[in-house]
Amino acid sequence: MTQKILLLPGDGIGPEITAEAEKLLTVLRDRHGLDVSWTSAPIGGAGYDAAGHPLPPATLEAAKAADAILLAAVGGPQYDNLPRELRPERGLLGIRAALGLFSNLRPALLYPELADASSLKPELVANLDILIVRELTGGIYFGKRQTGVETDYKVGSHVVPSARVARDTEAYSDFEIARIARTAFEAARLRGKKLCSVDKNNVLESSQLWREVVIEVSKDYPDVALSHMLVDNAAMQLVRAPKQFDVVVTSNMFGDILSDIAAQLTGSIGMLPSASLNERGQGMYEPSHGSAPDIAGKGIANPLAMLLSVAMMLRYTLARSDLADKIEAAVRKVLASGLRTGDIAKPGEATVGTVAMGDAVIAALG
Ligand code: IPM
Ligand code: MG
Repeated sequence: MTQKILLLPGDGIGPEITAEAEKLLTVLRDRHGLDVSWTSAPIGGAGYDAAGHPLPPATLEAAKAADAILLAAVGGPQYDNLPRELRPERGLLGIRAALGLFSNLRPALLYPELADASSLKPELVANLDILIVRELTGGIYFGKRQTGVETDYKVGSHVVPSARVARDTEAYSDFEIARIARTAFEAARLRGKKLCSVDKNNVLESSQLWREVVIEVSKDYPDVALSHMLVDNAAMQLVRAPKQFDVVVTSNMFGDILSDIAAQLTGSIGMLPSASLNERGQGMYEPSHGSAPDIAGKGIANPLAMLLSVAMMLRYTLARSDLADKIEAAVRKVLASGLRTGDIAKPGEATVGTVAMGDAVIAALG
């Protein structure tokens, strides 16, 4: 049966890199037997401009009906002063919640050709290949919020008679922890068989439960070596000796922070795709980078993270890992041939634009 893809170009460089993904999909459909159809819809700032909301109802309906969603990026300075419920990010958070995309896979892979781009010494990052598994629909991102004036607010031994207070809540159930732990153990099983669970169990109740449940789940995965690390130490270890990690599993908030650190280890955020999956294998795929408003419309954005997101979509939702392998091999070939967009070029090196890079990957598909 024809599988349905929803394209969400979003803002900034989003439309430009989405055009490259569409070109790639067309070739896969016409020449490689990929049975898909696609439509596109506005989200983020583009959703707000078109329909007054970062996640217009029609976009959400289309997302629910799709097998896979390919999102480019949302956000831009022109939306910075909107109320929080209307900011572009709400489009993203809204889809994550509405589709139950609890499992966020963020690979940080260093391409040998780009080893100089890392801010770490080459020997620390050579052949780096980490997978961060971030819980995406729970924790403080979606916990109860409250803002108001409270009386007799305690600050240590001090009591403030009247204070403006804002609260966000970190809450996790055993159900949520167990299901993300299973995703991470399964992923580790297919890779280096090492899983590091990151928490703050020396301070937080929610982290104590996290650790307990991860240990319970580990009984079903005796072939995977499980370790635990406190989040502050994990941040330090990621920049001290990143190659000690294989798969890392952590909460929504810690995963947000650690995945940015891991991305910078590769020095090439323009190269990193990600996947957000629900229990039915429905997924949203997106580059790890943002909408880069400063270079939007100039035709110079790096489309590779977007094209590699198509590869992840083929692997995790569309059951065509043969085509995913082809795209990843094509990207490596193009890098090996010396083609560079501005973000991954060394000073003085010649660069190509978005369209030329997209064309080169398609040409290298074979
Ligand atoms: C990410 C982003 C989002 C997040 C923002 C845009 C809401 O930083 O996907 O990592 O915090 O989850
Ligand atoms: Mg983030």
